[in-house]
Parts: sequence; C-alpha cells; structure tokens
Amino acid sequence: MRRKDYRAVLQAASEVLGEAMHIVDANGMTIIYNEAMARLEKISVEDALGKPFRQVFSNIPEEESTLFQALKNRKEVRNKQQTYLNIYGKQVTTINTTVPVIVDGNVVAAMEIARDITDIKDMSDTILRLQDKGESPKEAPLQFTRYHFEDIIGEDPGFMQAVERAKKATSNTASVFIYGETGTGKELIAQSIHYGGKRHNRPFLAQNCAAIPESLLEGILFGTEKGGFTGAVDRAGLFEQANGGTLLLDEVSAMPYELQSKLLRVLQEKYIRRVGGKKDILVDVRIIATVNEDPRELISSGALRPDLYYRLNVIGITIPPLRERKRDIGVLAESFLKKYNEEYDKEIWMIADSALEKLENYDYPGNVRELENIIMSAVSMSDDGHVLTPHDISIPEPYREESSLVAGYSEEEGSLGEYLAQIEEKVIRQYLTSNGGNVSKTAGALGMVRQNLQHKLKKYDISIR
Ligand SMILES: Nc1ncnc2c1ncn2[C@@H]1O[C@H](COP(=O)(O)OP(=O)(O)OP(=O)(O)O)[C@@H](O)[C@H]1O
Ligand SMILES: [Mg+2]
Repeated sequence: MRRKDYRAVLQAASEVLGEAMHIVDANGMTIIYNEAMARLEKISVEDALGKPFRQVFSNIPEEESTLFQALKNRKEVRNKQQTYLNIYGKQVTTINTTVPVIVDGNVVAAMEIARDITDIKDMSDTILRLQDKGESPKEAPLQFTRYHFEDIIGEDPGFMQAVERAKKATSNTASVFIYGETGTGKELIAQSIHYGGKRHNRPFLAQNCAAIPESLLEGILFGTEKGGFTGAVDRAGLFEQANGGTLLLDEVSAMPYELQSKLLRVLQEKYIRRVGGKKDILVDVRIIATVNEDPRELISSGALRPDLYYRLNVIGITIPPLRERKRDIGVLAESFLKKYNEEYDKEIWMIADSALEKLENYDYPGNVRELENIIMSAVSMSDDGHVLTPHDISIPEPYREESSLVAGYSEEEGSLGEYLAQIEEKVIRQYLTSNGGNVSKTAGALGMVRQNLQHKLKKYDISIR
C-alpha cells in the first residue's frame, strides 16, 4: 500500500471511531487531523492538515504543548481530563492521551487522541446529585458569609432609602452601581441583592479590581485560551464562572481605562471572548459595581469612563458614611454587642449612655467595619460587668494634619487646653453661621451629636436667635 493510502485508511478509521485524533510525523508535520478534533479545537481540518503543527498552534509554548513534548522528549500524557466551553458556550469534557510512536528506538510520530466524555460526565454528575438528595444542598467550599437583607441594620432615612433601592433591584437583573466609603456595607448590599433575587441559587462571585495587577485582570475576568487544547491551559474567566448569577466588581474605577471599554462592550453585547480566544461566548451575568469615592470625581479625574458609569448606573445606590447617619451608631453597636457577647461568652446587657456618646462623637473613617471592630475589642477586653462603659471603648486618636493653627501656638496663648477651647469656639461659631444657625446641621457638619453641640453652645455662651 502506498504511503498516501495508509494515511487515508487511518484518517477514515479515526472518523469511524469518532475519537478526535491528531498525528504529527517526526518533522512535526500534521499527517492525520480528523473532523472530531477540528470540532474540539474550533478550527477547520484544512487549517491543520499537511501543515507544521507548531506553526498552526504557534501560541502554545513548547513546554505546554503535549504533542511537542511527546515528539521531542518522548513524554507521554495519558487520560488527562480537561473541561472547556465549546463555541456554543456548552461545557465539554474530554479525556486526552498523547503518546510518541517509537520505531527502532526513534520517534517517528506523535499522536493525540481526545475522547469526548461530556455525556458520561453529565451522567455521573446526575448520579452524584441524586445521591446527595435529601441532604441540604452542598455549598461551595470557599463560600464565605452570605448576607441577606435581614442582616442589614439601620434606621437612618438616608440609609434606609439606599436599602429600599437595593430591595427593588432584586426583581430584575439590571446593573447596579454602589457608591459608599470603605466599610459602609457595599458587599452586604450586593450580596443581599443577589441572594434576595431569582438568581440566589446561581453563583455570586466578587473581584476587587484594585487587588490584582492590571495585566492579569483581563484574563481573570474573561478567561484565557491557548488556541486549541494541545497542551492548552484553557481557563474560564469570572464571567463564565458566574454565568446565570452575579459578578461583583469592587473598585471598578481601578480597572485600566482600556479594559473598562471592553467591559462596556461585554455589557452591551452580552458575550465575552477569552484572552487569546477566537470565539464569542454568550454570558448572562448581572453586574454589581462599586466605588468608594464620588463617581463624579472619579470621572473628572479620568479614573472612571463616563460611558461605562452610565451603563452600570442603571440602579444607582449611594450609601451614606456612618458619620452622616449618627442614629445608626446606637442600633449597630447594640447588634454588634449581641454578636460578640455570644462569641466571647460575655453577658454585657447594655451600653452606658456615656459610652454611647463617646461612640457617637467619633467620625469613623472606616465606617461600620470600624465600629464593629471597636465593639468587638470592647467586648473582648471588658471585665465581667454587665454594662459597657466609656472606659471599655478605645477610639483611635484623630489624625490631624499639622495646621497653621497648631503651628501658631505658643505659651502666651495660655495652657494647651485653653488654646484648644478657643479654637473649638471659633470653629463652632463659624460652622453655625455657615449653617444658618441650624444646630442639627451644624452638629452633622462637625461630626458630633446634637446634644453634645448644645452642651458646647452653653459652655461658650453662644446664643442662637
Ligand atoms: N448596615 C449594616 N448592618 C450590619 N452590618 C453592617 C452594615 N454595614 C456594614 N456592616 C458590616 O460591616 C462590615 C463591612 O461591610 P462590607 O464589607 O459590606 O463593606 P464594604 O463597603 O464592601 O467595604 P470595602 O469598601 O472596604 O470593601 C461587614 O462585616 C458588614 O457585615
Ligand atoms: Mg467590599
């Protein structure tokens, strides 16, 4: 039989058997490449057949190419399971084997065979599911706290308005944009939206865009693909993994500007393309994006693309910082007290008024997270009393920039206490004037409770008409 005929027989046999097959000769020329393989690798038979395979799959590094390793280093890979999404977005699982063909001690060819076991895997998954029936649904092992609306504590009207908007967002899948300083509860709200809606059984994934190097972010979001699976490290990105569910993009303004426009395109067109991939994959993912600085400022400083912002801000939610909703400090502190009583096995029944005043007078740059930490440490450090006292509460010293006022201090001004009182009086008068004499507003602007401001007004003999 002629060489050509041998090949034809082999090619025909591989088609009949239905296994995906790729054979290269000692020179790395593809001599057999069948339809089943072409479907898996998402190229056409003509693209590969009769061509040097390293040229066709030039994007796969030598050390990762199983065919190359078989040919050059006689390396075998047997029964390696790989899972990918095909061009229709359907998950495909294959078992791959790559071996060198050795004749008289020489490598004359290398072949790769892939068996599509998607049906078998689906069946075994179904069996596993049935076996699990009756038990509570298994949670993903890496899943941390799941927040629901019941976990959100607050009374302040401005804050409750934000929560109401979030509740409305559960009835649809429009994009959500949350602005709130660090620790104000953005994740809490984002998860509550996800777990309170129809998608609650689907994945909720979160990625902080500022936490990883820019160069890796694109691959993490959209996945990577090495061309075909010949030694490929095909990896689904977060969009594919979150399909049908929700993807939380924290600090979206930290995303490189170019990537922001790619994200915008994905949101508009609803399909993604893996980095290095050629195929578009349909995805259905709800996006919740967050920022911890004013979006208008982020836009004007060039950190956030306005077009992306408008696309994300279909449902816009602004969470006020804790210092602007003082009345929440008490209810939050009570709830954290309960939580940490249990955790530390304490019996602190109440927070003394003076302790509450101390809590209310602080401005919480770390917001609710910081308040929680303050209560946690107060409870853990407290003696076995039943009342939390100011003594238990340790509040960080306010950080002040060196101001000209301080620089101007000299002993002639009197004691430091007197000097500070003078400054306090000046600042209060100034703020009162600029707030039209409104005590509540002034107190808010100064980050103190109304009661406390009234006390100071009496002390400095400031009258309001
Ligand atoms: N209204 C609230 N009720 C109860 N707990 C809250 C509330 N707001 C925030 N917390 C708690 O404060 C902590 C911080 O909240 P979260 O992680 O949601 O903040 P964030 O805005 O995402 O912060 P960051 O910007 O730093 O990521 C969490 O432990 C959360 O449970
Ligand atoms: Mg967060």
